[in-house]
Amino acid sequence: MKQEEPILFQKYPNLRNRVPWIPLLTNVPTPIERLTELEKEFKLDGGEIYIKRDDKNHPIYGGNKLRKFEFIFGKVLKKKKKGVVTNGGIGTNHGLACAIICHELNPPLKCHLYLFHQQLTWHVQRLLLLFDYFGVKLHLGKGMIGTFVKFLFFKLLHPKYFLMFPGGSPLFGIGTSLGTIGFVNAAFELKNQIDQTIIREPDTIFVAGGTVGTAAGLVAGCKLLGLKLKVHIVAVSTSLTSNPSAVKRNANKAIKYLRKKDKSIPNIKINEEDFVFITGYLGSGYGIKTSRGQNAVDKVFELEGCKRDFKLETTYTGKAMAAMFDYLKQEENKNKTILFWNTYNSNDLDKYLKETNFQYKKLPRKFHKFYEESKFQCWQITNCPEDIKKSCPAYLNHEYRFWKITDCLLDEQKQRKALEVLKSVIKLEDA
Ligand SMILES: Cc1ncc(COP(=O)(O)O)c(C=O)c1O
Repeated sequence: MKQEEPILFQKYPNLRNRVPWIPLLTNVPTPIERLTELEKEFKLDGGEIYIKRDDKNHPIYGGNKLRKFEFIFGKVLKKKKKGVVTNGGIGTNHGLACAIICHELNPPLKCHLYLFHQQLTWHVQRLLLLFDYFGVKLHLGKGMIGTFVKFLFFKLLHPKYFLMFPGGSPLFGIGTSLGTIGFVNAAFELKNQIDQTIIREPDTIFVAGGTVGTAAGLVAGCKLLGLKLKVHIVAVSTSLTSNPSAVKRNANKAIKYLRKKDKSIPNIKINEEDFVFITGYLGSGYGIKTSRGQNAVDKVFELEGCKRDFKLETTYTGKAMAAMFDYLKQEENKNKTILFWNTYNSNDLDKYLKETNFQYKKLPRKFHKFYEESKFQCWQITNCPEDIKKSCPAYLNHEYRFWKITDCLLDEQKQRKALEVLKSVIKLEDA
């Protein structure tokens, strides 16, 4: 069911008509589920673990971006833009969410993505094909800064496009706060669920922090509401964007924006004492697979996700969960109520990928090397025959470890070869 209007507008009616917004979310308020198997695993003593299921908050692509986009795309439409240009790594989830929303709007908007290199993985190979499937115009830049400059130039030359910063968050204090406001609103949604006794007020929220708009919105919203809980933000990107000052800056900018629209909103200030910022789970850089992150992804799937149809991933939610695991191991936290905010999509995208037939040559030439240099899938390595490949659940599946999905029909020698190659390609950093 489509959401009627943000709870924030119900609490502060002056914001209605003054803050741009369009309905995109389905399934709101997003469910809060108790993770009892995880509670047993960590032998909690009076403590409870919950998950906020933002992962299916849109029929095609769920996750944190959609909450931001209700407000950002509200502005895009209000300004009558003909398209959106944004920027990120070649495996950007933000870029995919943006592409899907541009594609789904009626009439659709054009979408241009300026992409820079990040560690090449199966996730990246899939996403590039999905960008194309959803009609994106792809641009590959040289390095993060070089690509960013090109992205700014595009906007200068194309004023009818809306320029959205990576992750839909302000960058160094510049850019719209509307994405952050999506998560101020999410805090209001949580407060309603607390009032309805769906969950008692948690002691802690765990959330991944990349461009930290998600986390900043939650921190600001919780303080506005007078909640005592502490948002624990786990850095999953480099300190350039993921740092405590950025959280403070983004949160205060969002409050300032809201107060400009409605003076009755309390004049609060976010300080570093209002949240906990956790580092040490990133590994050597953004998107790197770490052993603790992978372990958290696997454990949560095995204990909870397989029954509840969600899965974490290794760039964001796996690292945030790894930090939560370490928190749960400490004796003083065994009686705490903890809410894990699931920011990753769990809708099935494999069906769209299958429609692309893995025809990467349809992508601009510059992107072909990402398929020709490295292979991450058993069927790429073994030259798996068409008939076996097409009927095999591992073919074009999002999982990159085929032995987790299926019993292989190929002869044992080929299987062994695939396993050897893949285990050496999928390296986990010890972090
Ligand atoms: C799954 C997932 N979780 C968390 C984040 C981080 O959100 P933010 O950039 O608002 O910190 C992202 C950003 O791309 C994401 O894709």
